[in-house]
Amino acid sequence: FAQLGAESEWRVANTKSIKETADQLGVELRFLDAQQKQDKQIEAVRKLIIQKVDVIGISPIVETGWEEVFREAKAAGIPIILSDRRAAVPEDLYATYLGSDFLEEGRNAGRVLAKLVNGEAKIVELVGTVGSAPANDRFKGFREIIKNYPGMKIIDSESGDFTRARGKEVMDTFLKQYGKTITAVYAHNDDMALGAIQAIENYGLKPGVDIKIVSIDASHGAFEAMIAGKLNATVECNPLLGPQFFDLALKVVNGDIVPKWVPSREGIFYPDNAAEILPGRKY
Ligand code: AHR
Repeated sequence: FAQLGAESEWRVANTKSIKETADQLGVELRFLDAQQKQDKQIEAVRKLIIQKVDVIGISPIVETGWEEVFREAKAAGIPIILSDRRAAVPEDLYATYLGSDFLEEGRNAGRVLAKLVNGEAKIVELVGTVGSAPANDRFKGFREIIKNYPGMKIIDSESGDFTRARGKEVMDTFLKQYGKTITAVYAHNDDMALGAIQAIENYGLKPGVDIKIVSIDASHGAFEAMIAGKLNATVECNPLLGPQFFDLALKVVNGDIVPKWVPSREGIFYPDNAAEILPGRKY
């Protein structure tokens, strides 16, 4: 499995789910972490090809730049399963994509925010890793919805690379530049929202009250922030893909027909029942 890194709470849960499921099933797993670098991830795929594994799972860090190495895997007779993130390659270069509908997550974030602010907001956006499938689609889906609300304006948008530290840094800069003009934050993931919450508090404003915040993932940290009244909603993106991943891997190796996209099931969560739901959450 060529994992892209360990940039967020989500990713850590995703890796854990893959490793734990492999252990439970007694599958021999070669796991490589690309530390958020595409060249390292390409190198990882090449290593797995040389090792003649049966199937390669990968969460591609960005959408483009995969065709050559996927062709090498195909030539070696090793099927590729895209897990969590899509890659922009012809369909014959991968067996299936297991993961979320990132476009719909972006739309849901737009719907939730529009309701929260009654269609009136000056929004700053914390974008995920530039060129990644979730950042591209969450950017697009959100705009599809808010274009219907003339009172909702995105005043700035910048990448926080899906990390808490960058989310905070970018929010610090936004606050320096726009101050109290900002009334809402749309963060492409919870980690960046949690970073933004710190920045807003340091600036002397109340996150979730003075500035409404909507993010994506539904991680533990987000639930805790909702319970504390600092985050207004989180749209779920499910990282627990291990069981479905190995189920698909087995089918692919056995030559069974699998759908080209296996979507994960996801919801939306709000502060009102966050305390009740949190103990049952696995990530
Ligand atoms: O690809 C899924 C995204 O990647 C998650 O939303 C984010 O937290 C992670 O880093």
